[in-house]
Amino acid sequence: MASAVSETGTFSTITSIAVKQPARADVVIRACGVNYAYGSGETRTQVLFDNDLEISRGEVVIMTGPSGSGKSTLLTLIGALRRMQEGRLEVLGRDLTEAGDADQVVLRKEVGFIFQQHNLFSSLSAIENVRMATALRPASVAEMNERAAEILTKLGLGERMGHLPSSLSGGQKQRVAIARALVNRPALVLADEPTASLDAESGKTVLDLLRGMADGPDRTTVLLVTHDQRVIDHADRIVNMVAGRIVTNSLTRIAVRIVRALAAQDALRGLGEATLSRLASFMTVETHHAGETIVREGEDGDRFYAIGSGIADAYYAGEFDEELCFGEGFGIITAYFNRPNRRTVIARTEMELYVLSKEDFFRALKADTTFESRVRTALMSMPGYLDAPAAGSVP
Ligand SMILES: Nc1ncnc2c1ncn2[C@@H]1O[C@H](COP(=O)(O)OP(=O)(O)O)[C@@H](O)[C@H]1O
Ligand SMILES: [Mg+2]
Repeated sequence: MASAVSETGTFSTITSIAVKQPARADVVIRACGVNYAYGSGETRTQVLFDNDLEISRGEVVIMTGPSGSGKSTLLTLIGALRRMQEGRLEVLGRDLTEAGDADQVVLRKEVGFIFQQHNLFSSLSAIENVRMATALRPASVAEMNERAAEILTKLGLGERMGHLPSSLSGGQKQRVAIARALVNRPALVLADEPTASLDAESGKTVLDLLRGMADGPDRTTVLLVTHDQRVIDHADRIVNMVAGRIVTNSLTRIAVRIVRALAAQDALRGLGEATLSRLASFMTVETHHAGETIVREGEDGDRFYAIGSGIADAYYAGEFDEELCFGEGFGIITAYFNRPNRRTVIARTEMELYVLSKEDFFRALKADTTFESRVRTALMSMPGYLDAPAAGSVP
């Protein structure tokens, strides 16, 4: 894809986009007005204040924020390692608001926890440590061994399965602990700085594995506390915690793709990342059903679409042209010119589309005159667009 934004560029401004989030049916974590305090009486200190958070099945969400801001506290509440005090909390369809010990234990079995301290059994080998976890879900010894070996191999420890923790490096021990957390294919993974002790390559292996689990048939949900910048490309969303409050909650992975898709639009070529990010924040979300025609070749286009989920088929001159999926854009922005859609696009599956309409585009222009002049300059510099209307004629 020709793009004004380099593939390796730093998408530093993009984390600030808050594209309106689609309403999803399968919410795995729903927190509402969650407060939490340590201690009691004179020593009582409130550390979480009125936190709302919704995470859907298959999402990878990163939580960042300064040390002491309450990230671990919120994570342990979600994992039922700590009793709720105030607010509502539902996890994997269970209400934890007033859950007792027994309910908490049941939930914990469905969660894969990854902590900074690995807590491996020193007298057990790597594979035996991982097998300990499979014992939670009874299976034959052969099957348990196979599953444990498979996940250790995926994490690059195929050669080290028989080693005791004392003969493994810090990073290798951490990967054994990660294997142990994931071997039962938990519906939810809660990870507290899981890549802190890993080198760049093993960090990437772990993140690829988690992303693969989220995108795979299990649609695992992952909530990850980290400061690791490399993680951002793997995440659907970043949640930022400051002084006990979630302060931003933005879509990142799709935002990066939307900006790339916008950058590839002829009419917007040459605009910088910050300008395109601002434009992306004016987009709204639409759902389309399988079989629906979204745009038609030859008809005047006044909407630009970027695919959030689902697959579409594009046709050119009546012939199948290509399949379109996550992050790809189609349609056109004809803010200044009426131009026909180049292709017909039909939804193959149910789709979630981020849409920038002509009206959104004008609202974006009006909200920011610098932006408008940048768009205008970019357009004027393009061959064939010299008939653009004069300044001031934007409706
Ligand atoms: N067991 C505890 N008892 C009392 N205070 C605690 C305890 N655990 C954490 N805190 C305090 O709660 C606040 C939030 O801590 P934490 O959730 O660990 O933050 P983070 O994970 O973002 O670093 C900090 O001020 C910390 O000192
Ligand atoms: Mg912490």
